[in-house]
Amino acid sequence: MSNRKIAIMGAMPEEIEPIISKLKDLKETSYAANTYYEGTYNGKEVVVAYSKIGKVFATLTATSLIAKFGCDTLLFSGVAGAISPELNIGDLIIADGLCQHDLDITAFGHPYGYVPEGEVCIPTDVYLRNIAKEVAKEKGLKLLEGIIATGDQFVANTERKDWISETFKAHALEMEGASVAVVCSSLDIPFFILRAISDSADMDASFNFDTFLESSAKISADFILSMVDAIDR
Ligand code: ADE
Repeated sequence: MSNRKIAIMGAMPEEIEPIISKLKDLKETSYAANTYYEGTYNGKEVVVAYSKIGKVFATLTATSLIAKFGCDTLLFSGVAGAISPELNIGDLIIADGLCQHDLDITAFGHPYGYVPEGEVCIPTDVYLRNIAKEVAKEKGLKLLEGIIATGDQFVANTERKDWISETFKAHALEMEGASVAVVCSSLDIPFFILRAISDSADMDASFNFDTFLESSAKISADFILSMVDAIDR
């Protein structure tokens, strides 16, 4: 039995509600203008929170889960806009790496997404990715693996989406993952980012996001709970 303390993070209430509703021994704590839910899932200790949307809030929540609540593993669950044409609404993607598509000091000759002493693309934990692949196999679910691009923008136009695709070779985009990656890699905490597709970051994106947020968030949350069961390190 693993004795890890696993952080499970989302950005929006819809992304963590299906997880909180399955926890036992639930205790709510207010910290840094947010609510943290400590509990157990099938005997494993977890701490769950949603950050609110965007990179700054995600950074604060990921840091708090680790530095204040003592989590030593972080799993992110939520929805994303598809870039890859292979991804349809409800499909799952795991990040092998994350980049910030809105980070731009190209005026100084640097590539997009890069600042000195940082990396354009931060890799996720290989053990956690392998667990995800095992879970997907067991459940007979399709699971794409690729680069996820993060930025403080809801992308709803194909020009921007195509630029992100070409510049970062990204397969999906969202608004928090790379912040979590920066925090976890800096604090040496193994982390994992899972997203279920809610839209295709095109002109229909806001309508599709509203329509599919809840159902796609639940697909991702259910998968994350199966991963908690499978984590045994
Ligand atoms: N999360 C889900 N869909 C998104 C989109 N189109 N842009 C940014 N974040 C998203």
